[in-house]
Amino acid sequence: MTNDLLLRDASHVRRPSASPIQTPIVIASLAYKGGIGKTTLAEELAHVLDAVAVDFDWSKGGLTAGWGYREESRIGAPIIDAFASGRVPTPLRGGPRKPDLIPGHTTFVEHQPAADKVAGELNRWAYSLQRRIVVDTHPDGCPSTNGAMAAAKVVVTPVILHTREMRSLEQLLNEASDYPLLLIPYMVPRTPSQWAIDDLQRLSERYDVPVGPMVGYYPWIPIRRLRVAICSEPVAKKQRQFCTEIQQVAKAVLSYDR
Ligand SMILES: Nc1ncnc2c1ncn2[C@@H]1O[C@H](COP(=O)(O)OP(=O)(O)O)[C@@H](O)[C@H]1O
Ligand SMILES: [Mg+2]
Repeated sequence: MTNDLLLRDASHVRRPSASPIQTPIVIASLAYKGGIGKTTLAEELAHVLDAVAVDFDWSKGGLTAGWGYREESRIGAPIIDAFASGRVPTPLRGGPRKPDLIPGHTTFVEHQPAADKVAGELNRWAYSLQRRIVVDTHPDGCPSTNGAMAAAKVVVTPVILHTREMRSLEQLLNEASDYPLLLIPYMVPRTPSQWAIDDLQRLSERYDVPVGPMVGYYPWIPIRRLRVAICSEPVAKKQRQFCTEIQQVAKAVLSYDR
């Protein structure tokens, strides 16, 4: 009931501060391929779920840079310092139009702890902050990605209905179908190939992994220059359909039970 209530208001109203009634769960955005929507999904889900976004991807052009955080002008590296010190990091406030953020760092590749430590700490952060956490991950089986997957109550995986991307999905399912994956058909064109839809259904049944609501392909997204979440108010008319789809994904995440 709490989740439904939260979701109903989350579409329109951003609470000025974290809600005390959040169940502090970890959600991971994860796939074995780059350029398929992990970061966009992570940021938008974090926004509509009023969650803290955590950036584990050290490559440039990810969540942290898109949010407007420049590591060059900062001292220290919050994500690395948090793991090293054992102190729960304080999220940067995003305000009404961006999620709160624990920023990533380009040197995290060398400083990421072992997967079990990452998993334990992520859950500890969520409980200590009393917030949901959405983690954006690096697209390979590195310790931080594995740790995020182990910590997550739901692992959201964007699925592009293309030949290579479907192969990469099959590899992920082969290795990780026992994790709580939720497959999101993503950047779906107006007329997707029937073979790809059939293939997704086959994989979903074979590996017993659910397919969630789909998100379409919107040509204005890759050339956006605004740093705010697409689903933050005011939502422009052309963005409404995308935001409705993200809301559906958020709802599927909160009701996920596997
Ligand atoms: N629904 C969408 N429709 C069209 N383009 C999208 C959509 N979602 C994301 N993109 C664009 O696709 C590219 C890859 O998305 P991104 O979220 O960075 O993926 P990843 O984190 O997997 O590398 C970016 O240019 C992004 O703006
Ligand atoms: Mg990314």
